[in-house]
Amino acid sequence: MDFTISTQEAYLSNYRASVEQPEQFWEEIAHHYSWMKPWENVLDFDMKDARFTWFQHGKLNITVNAIDRHLEARGKKTALLFEPNDPNEEAQHITYNELSERVNKLSNVLKGIGIQKGDRVCIYLPMIPELAVSVLACARIGAIHSVVFAGFSSSAVAARIQDSACKIVITSDGGYRGNKSIELKKIVDEALVNCPSVQNTLIFKRTGDPIEMKDGFDLDASTLLKEAKDICTPEIMDSEDPLFILYTSGSTGKPKGMVHTTGGYMVYTGYTFKNVFQYQEEDIFWCTADIGWITGHSYLLYGALLNGATTVMFEGIPSYPDFGRFWKVIDKHKITHLYTAPTAIRSLAKESIDWVNSHDLSSLKILGSVGEPINEEAWHWYDTHIGKGKCPIVDTWWQTETGGILISPIPNVTVTKPTYATLPLPGVQPVLMNEQSQPIEGNGVTGNLCLQFPWPSIARTIWEDHQRYKDTYFSTYPGYYFTGDGALRDETGYYRITGRVDDIVIVSGHNLGTAPIEDAINEHPAVAESALVGFPHDIKGNALYGFIILKDNAIQENEDQLRKEINQHISEHIGPIAKLDKMQFVSGLPKTRSGKIMRRILRKIAEGDFSNFGDISTLLNPDVVEDIVSGKCS
Ligand code: WTA
Repeated sequence: MDFTISTQEAYLSNYRASVEQPEQFWEEIAHHYSWMKPWENVLDFDMKDARFTWFQHGKLNITVNAIDRHLEARGKKTALLFEPNDPNEEAQHITYNELSERVNKLSNVLKGIGIQKGDRVCIYLPMIPELAVSVLACARIGAIHSVVFAGFSSSAVAARIQDSACKIVITSDGGYRGNKSIELKKIVDEALVNCPSVQNTLIFKRTGDPIEMKDGFDLDASTLLKEAKDICTPEIMDSEDPLFILYTSGSTGKPKGMVHTTGGYMVYTGYTFKNVFQYQEEDIFWCTADIGWITGHSYLLYGALLNGATTVMFEGIPSYPDFGRFWKVIDKHKITHLYTAPTAIRSLAKESIDWVNSHDLSSLKILGSVGEPINEEAWHWYDTHIGKGKCPIVDTWWQTETGGILISPIPNVTVTKPTYATLPLPGVQPVLMNEQSQPIEGNGVTGNLCLQFPWPSIARTIWEDHQRYKDTYFSTYPGYYFTGDGALRDETGYYRITGRVDDIVIVSGHNLGTAPIEDAINEHPAVAESALVGFPHDIKGNALYGFIILKDNAIQENEDQLRKEINQHISEHIGPIAKLDKMQFVSGLPKTRSGKIMRRILRKIAEGDFSNFGDISTLLNPDVVEDIVSGKCS
């Protein structure tokens, strides 16, 4: 697909065209893909009501574009390069031909067990090729995939299955992560106690650990695949038919099932993959994100395959069997692109540089960063030690809700600046809002980041809760999409994302809403109330600090035991990623007269900044602040 921007002039003229004539701009891009029936109207939208229609009435199947279309020219090229958790297990090179066969077969298996267009399929798998194949098989038959990251607990899985009434769960006996193995099937069994919509599970084998199979309910994938036909005609999808649901944390209440549709998502992820990574035919692209997150969906999988790329799937973790693993994988597979999160960079930067220097990284051309702000030190370490000063770093800002990258340098086109995501991609119109909810003109300013015009891969709704979608993203600044992030626009117009301005904390690149974790803590029998805030952490970016009020009768002698129990409780309700780094038992929480917790005070305490709490005159209980400060965790 040749829509590469390779000069600064091209970027500027493309950007201008995308703002002045967005419909013509995107229509031209969309023509690069294969459609079963062309669209009738490029864009219809209403920012107030949060309604977006792209490529209206166009018909397509994304797997035709991601797989079939490449078979003639690239059938023997590696599509998925699987690097197992254990470095002694052989890597797998799955060609486009093989991928096609596996996706077609699994599509037929799913159809055979009654999965139809529009049904929701929960996929709870480790990072093994079957995960990619399952996602693509759903897309081929028009079933809506809902991938749940395999680090989530059984109650978190259950909540996600229930919310979108999934008909089936695809999982495996277990999965490997470093020196641990995780019993995924068992977690699913626990989740399914409360999921009446699920009619079957489909089980792949990974660890070979013994599992319990319920007759007629738990289906063995390999048995069904043996009998499945090789060819499955792709379902004809409307541009606006949902492709997937992906859950992301909300600052309040249950997770939000973001719905992405087919046509616009395809056009945008393919386009941005090509440009942000300046992808070329022989490149080997490695995105370290799990497919359970949006980065894995859009760039490890769809964006890469839409471009006929070789995309690496890594099952393991950066520290196993040692801190050289990432660098070893790059050397072994001659990887050209590394797309990872600042938290991984920071955790590896603190280890001996010998881990890096004992490998040949000369194949690398472009480095990417995603998921959280990258601090200056990590940026320079990445640039110097991994890129050897010759690989542009693309600091890509985007969200589950945006479907694709919105603000990012284009390598070798945009001059990079450490910690800056730099400039909007074509089609993206950022605006910064001031405290009076007015757009701020000019440069050298900070404000809340909004977008004033839709792009093709904007989420269309929250699954069965359009009102929540509108309230969350389109009501703070009517007429604009509000990102929840704060940003700075420097003198030259470059953007730097400064972090969340709501009650979402990004811990090791994972979005965590504080409210659902507080709910989990409050369910512990000893806890009366709690409030969580984020505080800066060297490796994780942010970590969680909990202020917890215990019930009167709670035994307080064994505080360490209680801390362990509370974290255990969080692990069971949400997952280990949501555990607290610090917990302080307090007598009260600073509240306004209307009962709202003043989190900015707690944030300052957690950060260790007691100098100025600002105006606390509206507090119902100002004395409590003193108490909390005096008992602060070290
Ligand atoms: C944050 C991940 C700074 C941001 C693709 C956003 C970033 C949230 C960057 C979305 C970046 C993502 N610089 N912050 N380059 N990329 N973020 O939904 O706060 O998991 O709102 O999507 O991550 O996280 P999500």
